[in-house]
Order: sequence, then structure tokens, then C-alpha cells
Amino acid sequence: MSSSSGEVPTPGPLQPVGDAGELSRFNPFDPAILAQPWEYNDRLVAEAPVHREPNTGLILVSSYELVNQVLNDYETFSNRFMLMMGGGTKAKVPSAVAEVMKGGYPPVDTMLTADPPEQRRFRSLVNKGFSLRRVGALAPRIEALVGELIDGFAQEGRVELRSQFAVPLPLTVIAEQLGVPREDLAKFKQWSDGFVAQLGGMASTEEQVEAWKRIVEFQRYFEKVLKDRAENPRADILSAVVNARVEGEASLDTAECLSILQQLLVAGNETTASAICQGVHLLMENPDQLARLRENPDGIPNAVEEILRLTTPTANMWRVCIRDTVLGGVEIAAGSAMLVRFSAANRDPAVFPDPHAFDAGRANAHDHLAFGAGVHFCLGAQLARMEMTKAFEALLERLPNLRAPDGSGPPVYPPNILLRGMAALPLEFDPA
Ligand code: HEM
Repeated sequence: MSSSSGEVPTPGPLQPVGDAGELSRFNPFDPAILAQPWEYNDRLVAEAPVHREPNTGLILVSSYELVNQVLNDYETFSNRFMLMMGGGTKAKVPSAVAEVMKGGYPPVDTMLTADPPEQRRFRSLVNKGFSLRRVGALAPRIEALVGELIDGFAQEGRVELRSQFAVPLPLTVIAEQLGVPREDLAKFKQWSDGFVAQLGGMASTEEQVEAWKRIVEFQRYFEKVLKDRAENPRADILSAVVNARVEGEASLDTAECLSILQQLLVAGNETTASAICQGVHLLMENPDQLARLRENPDGIPNAVEEILRLTTPTANMWRVCIRDTVLGGVEIAAGSAMLVRFSAANRDPAVFPDPHAFDAGRANAHDHLAFGAGVHFCLGAQLARMEMTKAFEALLERLPNLRAPDGSGPPVYPPNILLRGMAALPLEFDPA
């Protein structure tokens, strides 16, 4: 079955595809593998960089070279993957979920879930809101926010870093840019959690119903704010999105704006929070690197790249193959559902020598694929880099003698096929 561009073939239900040898004892959805994918990833890169996964029927792509090839070939590997998940524009959803969805705007595929040329239209309208100049202008605000958050716990000598720092930092930055007042931040977090649950594709019907209730609430809230910004633009990203005009392109309608806001909300929060927590954890596990950065904070931007490489918060991303092809010697039929394993590519020994080692000064750390590549390269990469750099600069300076509290076990990673992040990171340090 072959398909030219245009209509994306609807993937059928995932089916086991037979024994693929010893690798079949791993299941990519197994919570233990989601938490610690490294052994599996190493074996995939070495033995089967394109792997027809027998438990799920998914095609897994893992080596750096082939992940890069997929990311740069949108004509073969489509991002219109919402078809595979509950909530896509044409997806079949359980009736209880459909009932809740009726109360809101219909889901539309925009940046992350669209292909060029439509995807380009959205990106060109939104890029302005995330230009280097605009992100640069946020530096003082991000620095102040980092300082305020640390002030909140510096004297106590202990903190749960995720809830008290890593989540509120990107959440507040993006909320301010979307014009959400502080008192609505908790609601904002709930909406973000709703989107994450839906994107992960692992939610039960009841969880999907809950997630969609939050999404509809989000849509109702922003419907009003969008209208206000169209009439009274401010100097925030939301106004830039609503009022974006590109010559020859139609401006965004409400459903499109809402879809874009959803993506900004999810992409900007969980990923950055995860990178900060995992980065601090890595630094504590590598005290030589921590000491090196405390002595030489100029090394922090490169360390941020190395942390992104090793932690890869977006561990996997979906693709749908839309025409028969051969990748890495493996035939892939149009309609195949694929999982691009960023977390494996970022530890491919062909590109990163001694790939599991944390080397804050690694010369090619910047070559990681944690922000993707090609047309979907992360819109918020510069913002995330700035938030992480400011966060690590201040945490290293202000929290001396960082350590795990006695009796705290290893970090827990809630199962999510796309986003890998810690549930919590309790820390102790010498109080200010
Ligand atoms: C450490 C933090 C972050 C990581 C690891 C990350 C990772 C990624 C990755 C891997 C992609 C590409 C997905 C694909 O190829 O299908 C992506 C796309 C995207 N990211 Fe990020 N991201 C981060 C932070 C942010 C922030 C702060 C924002 C915005 C506030 C953001 C907004 C987006 C958007 C809108 C897209 C879709 C772009 C498109 O499809 O054209 N991200 N991100």
C-alpha cells in the first residue's frame, strides 16, 4: 500500500508482528524500561537501529544517523500522528471522551502535529514570539524569578526541587507570556497535566475523560483571553500569536490559536522541569563535574547541552510513515506507526564517545537531538536553554553542599512514552 503526499494513511490497531529474537523480551511501554531505557537503547542502536517491535508492532528508530534521517524527511515520516491517539482530528475516541470533547473546540493539527506546508504556516506565524531578541529580553525576568524561587527555600536547608523550583519556573515564564495571572497558575498546571496525559497515549478512558475536561476548561478560559488580546495587544507572546500576520498567509483562527497555546503549555513545562531535575541529579552523581562548574560557571551553557543530551526529556516522539520506504535496510510500509527514540540517538557511541559519561566540557555536546532536528526543531529551544542556564547558575551558587536526604531512594519516573521526567527530587544543602 503506497500513498503519495496529502492524505495520511490511518494506522490500524497495533499488532504483534512475530518474534524479533532476544530484543522482544523488552517492551518499550514497560514502566521499568521507560524509567531506565539505557540497556535497551544500547542494544537497539547496536543490533537493530530500525526495529520492528514485536510486542506493539511499532517501528523503533534509535541510531543517531537514522533518527536524524527520519527527522529530516517529513515527506516520508509524518507528524500527523494524532490519528493514532485519542483526540486526533479523525481519531476514533471512546464515546465518553467524545461527549466531553463536544463541549470544546474541535482539535486541529497545528505545529507539532502537522506537516509542511501547513506546519510552516503555523511556525512562521509563531516564530516571531520566540525570536532570539524576544527570548533575550526575558533574561532579567527569568533571573529574578529564579532568585525569588530560591529565596523561598534557601534558609531551610531542604527543598523538593521539582514542585518548589523546576515546575514553577517554566510554568510562570510561559504563563506570564500567555498573560495568565499568578492566581490562575495552579489551574494552568492542571491543564498542562491534562495535555501530557493525552499526548502520552497511555491513558485509560476515565483518565482521558478527566484530561479532556481540563482541556475544555482551558479552551473556555483562553477563548476570552484571545479575544481580549486581539482587541488590546500587549507585549507578550500571546498577543504576538493572536495578531501574527505573514504576507500571503491567513491569520490564525480560534481553534488554531488554542491548539498552539496547548503545545506551548505542554512543551514548555514538563520538558524544562524534567531537564532541571535530572540535571541537578546528574550533577550530584558526578561531584567532580559539579565542583568544576562551581569553580568555572562559564562552563554552564555547555553543561546544559550535555545535560540535555544525557537526560533527553522528550525521550521518544511519534511519526507515521506515509509512503512505502526502506530505512536502514528495513522495509517500512505506508501507514506504519513509528517511535523515534531521541534518548537512544543521544547516547549513540558512533557520535558521542563514552556516551553514558557526564562530561560537562564535552566538545560536541551541542550536537544532541534533545530538541529534535529539521522542520519541527523545538520552537522553545532558546527559551529552555536560557531557563536552564539561569537555573543552574543560581542553584550552584546558592545551594552549597547539595546532597540527597538520608533514606531517599532512587528517583521515580512516572510512565509516559514521550516525556521522561522525575516525580520528585528531594534535596538537602547548607542553609543560607
Ligand atoms: C528542555 C526543554 C525542551 C525539550 C527537551 C524540548 C524538546 C522538543 C523536541 C524534541 C521537539 C521536536 C518534536 C518532533 O520532532 O516531533 C520539540 C518541538 C517543539 N517544542 Fe520543545 N522542548 C523543550 C522546551 C520547549 C519550550 C520551552 C517550548 C515553548 C514554550 C517548546 C515548544 C515546542 C513546540 C511548539 C514544538 C513543535 C514545533 C513544531 O513542530 O514546529 N519546547 N521540542
